[in-house]
Amino acid sequence: MERLDKVLANLGFGSRKEVKALVKSGRVEVDGEVVKDSSISIDPEKSIVKVNGEELLYRKYIYLMMNKPDGVISATFDNRDETVIDLLDIDYQVFKPFPVGRLDKDTVGLLLITNDGDLNHKLISPKWHVDKVYYAEIDKEVNETDIEAFKKGVVLDDDYKCLPAKLEIVEADENGSKVYITIQEGKFHQVKRMFQAREKEVVYLKRVKFGNLSLDNELMEGEYRELTEEELETLKDI
Ligand code: URA
Repeated sequence: MERLDKVLANLGFGSRKEVKALVKSGRVEVDGEVVKDSSISIDPEKSIVKVNGEELLYRKYIYLMMNKPDGVISATFDNRDETVIDLLDIDYQVFKPFPVGRLDKDTVGLLLITNDGDLNHKLISPKWHVDKVYYAEIDKEVNETDIEAFKKGVVLDDDYKCLPAKLEIVEADENGSKVYITIQEGKFHQVKRMFQAREKEVVYLKRVKFGNLSLDNELMEGEYRELTEEELETLKDI
């Protein structure tokens, strides 16, 4: 059960004080009856709440998949730059969502955005070893020795030894390479630093998979959509 004023405030109907006035004015109905007291408790999953005759679709959690564009920060707020949350419609922003983990400013691709703290915790906890797959373009020729080194675990500039990672070469010659890399960790700039450890540079990075969830190819950079029920189930299933 939750207080009516809290539910309405979360849905963007104003501050608690504004919500109180709204309810007092007789424009809010709960289960077919006008209510005047905004402190009453309702069951957000079951009660039918109407404001100005329109039924509210109340949900506690939202789950969005975004194709993150270049130049945008994976954070809820930034003094200087646009954030992934700024790209969301206000109808989603009222749920106070946040990105699950981070992609660098210049990394594109699959980013989950939710307000479900428990799921976030599970997905970013090192304990669960969630696979993350990236498509990367590299400035030099990637070869078998790199595949072997990644399999053993490369050592980063701060002496951290990475968990084994899978490297698949799509194309490689002296002009550069296209690869897929699967990692289970999420250290700062991890993929870029793993290639640096092999004296190579990542020139383009896109996340294409997170756990069992693949980036929807229909989403242009900067676009997002809600996860389907199935997608959410597979994600929670890890
Ligand atoms: N590794 C990186 O170097 N950057 C990212 O954004 C994600 C993984």
